Amino acid sequence: MPVPPSAQVTVRSPAKINLGLSVGPPRPDGFHPLATVYQAVALYDDVTATVRDDTDITVEVVGDFAVDVPTDDSNLAVRAARLLQSEYDVTEGVDLSIRKTIPVAGGMAGGSTDAAATLVACNRLWGLQLSQSELQHLAAELGSDVPFCLVGHTALGQGRGEQVTEVMSRGTFHWVFAVADGGLSTPAVYSELDKLRPLRRVEPPEVSPALLSALLSGKAAALAVALSNDLQAAALSLRPELGGVLQFGLDQGALAAMISGSGPTCLFLAADSRRAVDLAVELAESGLCRMVRQAEGPVPGARILPAPITR
Ligand code: C5P
Repeated sequence: MPVPPSAQVTVRSPAKINLGLSVGPPRPDGFHPLATVYQAVALYDDVTATVRDDTDITVEVVGDFAVDVPTDDSNLAVRAARLLQSEYDVTEGVDLSIRKTIPVAGGMAGGSTDAAATLVACNRLWGLQLSQSELQHLAAELGSDVPFCLVGHTALGQGRGEQVTEVMSRGTFHWVFAVADGGLSTPAVYSELDKLRPLRRVEPPEVSPALLSALLSGKAAALAVALSNDLQAAALSLRPELGGVLQFGLDQGALAAMISGSGPTCLFLAADSRRAVDLAVELAESGLCRMVRQAEGPVPGARILPAPITR
């Protein structure tokens, strides 16, 4: 049955981490071919979309990282709404309100997930009835990580990361995140990687079989030794002090420590939820980072929250 449009919709959308990130040599279009295993983690931004009678698109940002987010047309959520509006000749506009708990420019797809949430919200708000695969197609135009943020869970990403296929994963993993002061520009990290590696020796990207079998086993100890990130060396070259943060986490008992995506967020895998809390406390007290977060994965992608009950 067709779902009727609503005047206001809130969509919750997760952060992503890359459990494996294998990067090939740059393509002619400047993007790098990837073989990555994404996992969505329970750190969320909420996007509330309210319909407008005119065709304007506005955005306000509130929450932990609000001051770091642009509110002009470069905002990826605004671009997502504009893309839908122009593709489908929508005659209404939208006021977007983003509540951020995902670090900005932190290597956790915060902007991409806001774009994914906006696609889902405006699809309902404007009664477009687009299918998941139509939304995936638009998501790929907005950014390499946006299609994954729509589906969530654990998935293989190929192409420039936009071609996603679900990967089987058992159980729940417990992650801790050390959020750094300031962000890192993703293009800058990719170009640093190109400077660090002699290009003719770079192999095509591939997913580690050990990573896929660790996910099937559901065992954190097996996952810990299978994690990898080709962008880590580049992020550490640009921000050498992050090496100390990774080592601190390992010294405090993390099973593994790694840069998240293009950084500068550092991620740690804990053996269980109790150890994750202990590690988060130690990191918070260390003064080595701006903020510490803890989250489980995997979780689903962007989804509409039930409307609040009103009398
Ligand atoms: O796709 P997205 O807009 O998120 O990518 C941001 C930038 O990151 C790109 O402009 C490019 O410089 C770099 N990138 C890349 N290869 C990828 C994904 C991103 O070089 N597979």
